[in-house]
Amino acid sequence: MDCLSSSPTKPISRTSLIPSKHLNSSNSYVSSNNVFVSTTLSNCIHISYVQTHKTRSNVKQTVSSSEAGKEEIFDVPVFSCSEAMEKLRTSPEKYPRKQLYLAMYSSIFEGITTDPAAMVIPMDDHIVHRGHGVFDTAAIVDGYLYELDQHLDRFLSSASMAKIKLPFDRESIRRILIQTVSASTCRSGALRYWLSAGPGDFQLSPSGCYNSSLYAIVIKDISPPDYKGIKVVTSSIPIKPRQFAIMKSVNYLPNALSKMEAEEKDAYAAIWLDGDGLVAEGPNMNVAFVTKDKELVMPHFDKILSGCTAKRVLVLADSLLKEKKLSQIKVRNVTVEEGKNSDEMMLIGSGVLVRSVVQWDETIIGDGKEGPVALALRNLIIEDMKSGPSTVRVPVPY
Ligand SMILES: Cc1ncc(COP(=O)(O)O)c(C=O)c1O
Repeated sequence: MDCLSSSPTKPISRTSLIPSKHLNSSNSYVSSNNVFVSTTLSNCIHISYVQTHKTRSNVKQTVSSSEAGKEEIFDVPVFSCSEAMEKLRTSPEKYPRKQLYLAMYSSIFEGITTDPAAMVIPMDDHIVHRGHGVFDTAAIVDGYLYELDQHLDRFLSSASMAKIKLPFDRESIRRILIQTVSASTCRSGALRYWLSAGPGDFQLSPSGCYNSSLYAIVIKDISPPDYKGIKVVTSSIPIKPRQFAIMKSVNYLPNALSKMEAEEKDAYAAIWLDGDGLVAEGPNMNVAFVTKDKELVMPHFDKILSGCTAKRVLVLADSLLKEKKLSQIKVRNVTVEEGKNSDEMMLIGSGVLVRSVVQWDETIIGDGKEGPVALALRNLIIEDMKSGPSTVRVPVPY
């Protein structure tokens, strides 16, 4: 790096980069993290660390700027492994946390750690530098894993679509996941797990990745659940093509941008439409509606992620037919017009469970309040998580 100017002919004003209240009489500045920035030279900003932490070994590098004929001094600490681990151990404490990381399994060290500082993955893993990985989740409820096998089936199907060879057979992966939850002692939280082409090099081809990797983490959410009715908007971020929408790969950039778009508009989520303009899904949830004649409808799963929660809701909703709260349950095409004119709209997923949508763009859905079917379906799912059959509840031996 030569200096902080965008081009030789157009130098950036040095002091314009720094708020004037932070400048002292010699136009120097000490930032909050003790980076010393001198602005006394004509063309470059000189940066050096004035902090002299006793355990740090400081590397000083002097670089000549050919353009300005002046010098820059870089002074970035180089840590030993134990010093780096200590930094990793203490740095998260600086930030307020909404989630605690209780245990991690890594096939790299072939075991489980409960030390968050060791919950790291190799930089040269294909999942990191090429997004070549898949993931899935399962909720931990009262010491049971909810719908573990359903999520595991989707996980392995995603891995197959991403051409990731399994490092272990299905049964071993399942056992590792259950043991990781057991080691965490967590009885209520979330399990997330990843399969990756693995570490090896920084090439595009995974041919140098010597072994695929499995990672899993147990997370405890410390914010209370919120079931208030929410607003959604139509996403302007394009939906992923079918091939990528039906697998749960780590390529969630469109999903994250879509969520950010919603937040910028004071909404909870942005809804994707498919190539034909039909309702598709949210960035990490499925969508369902209750029509004017009490039909529960969900868009087909053929171009979107096959949601485990949505599929379970379709089964549990049967009891609402018997109670005459619903007339029919159907998976079919849903137009935007029909969706916006529905009696109820809801988001369904393992994160949101079942959440009523009370406004979509400018349209108020139903009477603008949480609908009775959404409430009933959420209660059914919560009940199923707590006392459903063994096909959806796997006990964790602690
Ligand atoms: C894009 C997308 N659609 C739908 C879902 C809902 O799936 P599930 O109910 O299995 O959490 C998710 C969540 O993983 C998702 O990421």
